[in-house]
Amino acid sequence: MRVWWVLLAVLLLGCSDAADPAPSGDAALVAQGKAVHTREACNFCHNPEGTAPSYRGSEVELEDGRRVARDEAYFRRAILDPRAEVVAGYANNMPDYRARLSEEDIDALVAYLLTLR
Ligand code: HEC
Repeated sequence: MRVWWVLLAVLLLGCSDAADPAPSGDAALVAQGKAVHTREACNFCHNPEGTAPSYRGSEVELEDGRRVARDEAYFRRAILDPRAEVVAGYANNMPDYRARLSEEDIDALVAYLLTLR
């Protein structure tokens, strides 16, 4: 069933942004990431009025004062080990998704999050 949503999303993306030079494989992965983000209810907290950060900006300040790049490795760590690095000003209550997500889900989520910066 999920496959159809991904295909539909890819189709819609393809229509709405015909000039996008990104290869179709990337677009499919991003669409899958968006679907996983909804399926896992990440946007319950991660929404403009929510209790979690917006993923926006190329750098982020952490609770311990460090500034780190919001790059692929950072997003992966944030999903797999959310207690290790905490965004400044936010509660350390992000659930641990390690056991819930497949490798493919994680790759897709990271690809999607990278488009939101
Ligand atoms: C119960 C609320 C909640 C849910 C559900 C949740 N998160 Fe979070 N998330 C947080 C909070 C709070 C933070 C900030 C504290 C921290 O860095 O751990 C955060 C931080 C993050 C960050 C770093 C954000 C940034 O802007 O630098 C990422 C990436 C992230 N979450 C991804 C996800 C993904 C992907 C999901 C779903 C699989 C998810 N979160 C589900 C609460 C949540």
